[in-house]
Amino acid sequence: MSKESMSRFSISTQITQLGRDPAQQSGFVNTPVYRGSTVVFPTVSDIENNRAEFNYGTAGTPTIANLENAWTQLAGAAGTVLSPSGLGAIALALFTTLKSGDHLLMPDSVYKPTRLFCAGMLAKMGIETTYYDPQIGTDIETLFRPNTTTLFLESPGSQSFEIQDIPAMTALAKRRNIATILDNTWATPIFFKAHEHGCDLSVEAGTKYLGGHSDLLMGIVSANEQWWPKLREAYDLMAMLPGAEDCFLALRGLRTMHLRLKEAEKRGLEMAHWLKSRPEVLKVLHPAFPDCPGHEFWKRDFLGASGLFSIILRPEYTKAGVDDMLDNMSIFAMGYSWGGFESLIIPFNCANYRTVTQWQPGGLALRLQIGLEDVSDLQTDLAEGFERLNAHQS
Ligand SMILES: Cc1ncc(COP(=O)(O)O)c(C=O)c1O
Repeated sequence: MSKESMSRFSISTQITQLGRDPAQQSGFVNTPVYRGSTVVFPTVSDIENNRAEFNYGTAGTPTIANLENAWTQLAGAAGTVLSPSGLGAIALALFTTLKSGDHLLMPDSVYKPTRLFCAGMLAKMGIETTYYDPQIGTDIETLFRPNTTTLFLESPGSQSFEIQDIPAMTALAKRRNIATILDNTWATPIFFKAHEHGCDLSVEAGTKYLGGHSDLLMGIVSANEQWWPKLREAYDLMAMLPGAEDCFLALRGLRTMHLRLKEAEKRGLEMAHWLKSRPEVLKVLHPAFPDCPGHEFWKRDFLGASGLFSIILRPEYTKAGVDDMLDNMSIFAMGYSWGGFESLIIPFNCANYRTVTQWQPGGLALRLQIGLEDVSDLQTDLAEGFERLNAHQS
């Protein structure tokens, strides 16, 4: 079906249809796994004139193209490229917009490995990074320099969940010809339309909600009309692409992504409200809660909330108590990635890496990923954990 005719359908219908064409697949429903390096050309004229739908494995295969095209449609982009990981996609987006001597703006709440990439790779190339308060809003303009070429955004912020005023910030950047890149992993294009809100490039760690089963690493970068040729050029120059089976798994994940995100939203909110009512919890950092920094922007711009949020415990609790709570959970496991079917919980402390904002939440912090287990079982697991936590108070 053409892009135009697909657009009249709702997202849940679109993701069942995008990136597959049974008529081209001997009638089979799903796009097969194309593995390949060499593409053969029938004639000298064809090879000399590069006349082929695909000319080499790194330039793409039908499996890759189907995933890219599906994402382009879902994101409302001009084009999409893939990467073997979310962090790889962030690097690819930054390499697309930056060159030696440029200045980059990064939110202080950014995913920590993005920060390490700036310090470890971009600095070596003579690219300077300035960190900004994720709540800076239109004052971002005061940090623009003549050589600022990229404004990076991540909304909500990793672990701390501040929501940024993306339309206002991207509009200011546009006036100065500064490219904007958003890490949209938390919301995905289902809950936030990055390009409609002014972002030039949008990055997704497909590792999370696209894969959805904690068994896939995948990065995606989509671009608007202005940036698409430059993004494709950067991708072609590096040819860092995911494996064929991973693209197949990502296409399979796409089919249920809407359903899983809606469920993650419902369960996440149920758990967040329950946690807010618990005496052990000082604060819940969830974008859909009015006291979450930048909640008004979430309400105005987003179409939903995924299942990842944080809580702050009351100040009387100790690390020993939290260790006992987390070491002995029955369902919640500890692990860094998220967006899978299973519930996770980790302790974190943004003060360990922030450089321009203070992280003083008032107590120890935990990040939760709510999976597909029964909500009352999850509450029981946490309630038992809180008992262990309380047992450490004298
Ligand atoms: C917000 C965000 N962006 C990017 C990434 C990187 O994804 P990957 O693990 O695929 O490199 C992560 C991973 O946790 C993340 O949380």
